[in-house]
Amino acid sequence: MKFSHLGILCSGGDSPGMNCALRAVVRTAIFNNIQVTGIKRGYAGLLRGEFEKMNLSSVGNILQRGGTILQTSRCPEFHNPAFRKKAVDILKAQKIDGLIVIGGDGSFTGALALWDEHKFPVVGIPGTIDNDISQTDYTIGFETAVQTAIEAVDRIRDTAHSHARTFLVEVMGRNSSAIAIKVGVCTGAENILLPHEEVDHQQIVDDIQRGILRGKDSSIIIVAEGPTSGRSYKIQKVLKEKYKLDTHVVILGHIQRGGSPTANDRFISSEMGSLAVEQFLKNQFPVVTVLQNGKVTTTDLKNCVKKSDEHYLEHKNLAKILSI
Ligand code: ADP
Ligand code: F6P
Repeated sequence: MKFSHLGILCSGGDSPGMNCALRAVVRTAIFNNIQVTGIKRGYAGLLRGEFEKMNLSSVGNILQRGGTILQTSRCPEFHNPAFRKKAVDILKAQKIDGLIVIGGDGSFTGALALWDEHKFPVVGIPGTIDNDISQTDYTIGFETAVQTAIEAVDRIRDTAHSHARTFLVEVMGRNSSAIAIKVGVCTGAENILLPHEEVDHQQIVDDIQRGILRGKDSSIIIVAEGPTSGRSYKIQKVLKEKYKLDTHVVILGHIQRGGSPTANDRFISSEMGSLAVEQFLKNQFPVVTVLQNGKVTTTDLKNCVKKSDEHYLEHKNLAKILSI
C-alpha cells in the first residue's frame, strides 16, 4: 500500500518533546510527498472532526516549546468500540490512510484497537513523562521532567539546610517509580518512597536521626505521588502525630510536565518522529518507535500496551547508600 495522507494526534498527558516529534513527522512526511493532517485534542478531537492541514511552516519554531501545539485530551468514549468505528469512518472520510499516535500505554491501547478491529494502519510514538512503557528504555519528556524536579529540589535543599528542616518533596508518577528514583539519586535524597510501596515511618525517622547524629542538618525525602496526588500530607501527619517529627511538604505537580525540552528529549523525539513516517513507507505497522540499547528502533504495538515500572528500580538503594 502506498500512503499519501497521514493523521497525527497527541493523547493522554502532555510531555516536553511532543512538538519535536510532531515537527519531525510533518517534515519527514512532506519530504516524502505525504500530506499530514494534525488532529487536535487527541481522540476526542478526532471524534469531533477537529482537523488542521499541516505544512512546513505549521511546525516552525516549536522545537523549544513544551506541551503540544496539537493539544491533547483524555477521551473516555474511546473505550467503546462504537466510537472507535466512528473514528475510523471519520479518518476515511478525510482520506487519511494512516494514523500516528503520540502518547502512553493507554493511548496505544486505543490505537491497537483501531488496527485489530478495522485494520486501520497505526504507528505509536511514546510520549509521557513517566517513562513507564514496556519495551522502550525511554519515553519523550522524561528527561525534561526529571531535570525540572532536580532544579526544584536543589532550591528546596537550600532552605532545608539553612533551617535544618526535613522536606517531603512529592514528584509525579501515579504508577511509575522512574521520576522518583532518578530525582532521588540526582539530589542526594535521604529516602525515596515509591508509588505503591507501604511507607515505613519508623525507618524514615531512624534514618533522619542517624543523619543528625553524624552531623547532617537537612533531609529530603522524595515521595512518588502514587494513586492520588497529596500522599505526602498523609505521611507528614503520621510522622508528626506518632513520631513528633516536623516535616514540610512540597508538591511539585504539573510544573514537571511543562517547559522547554532538554537536548535528549528534542533529539530522541526527532528521531522517533522521522522513523514513525518511515514505517508507513515500508508498510510496517502496527508498531511503536522505541529506544532499546541506546538505539531508536521499532517494536510491535502490542508489546507497548502495558506499563513497565522496571526502569531505575535497580537504583532504588543507590540513593540510600550514597546519602548515608
Ligand atoms: P496514556 O496514553 O498516557 O497512558 P491514558 O491512560 O489516560 O494516558 O489514555 C489516554 C487515552 O487513550 C484515554 O483517554 C482513551 O481515550 C484512550 N485509551 C486508554 N485506554 C484505552 C483502552 N483500553 N481502550 C481504548 N482506548 C483507550
Ligand atoms: O502520565 C503522566 C502523569 O503526569 C502522571 O505522572 C500523573 O500522575 C498524571 O499524568 C496526572 O495527569 P493529569 O493531571 O493530567 O490527570
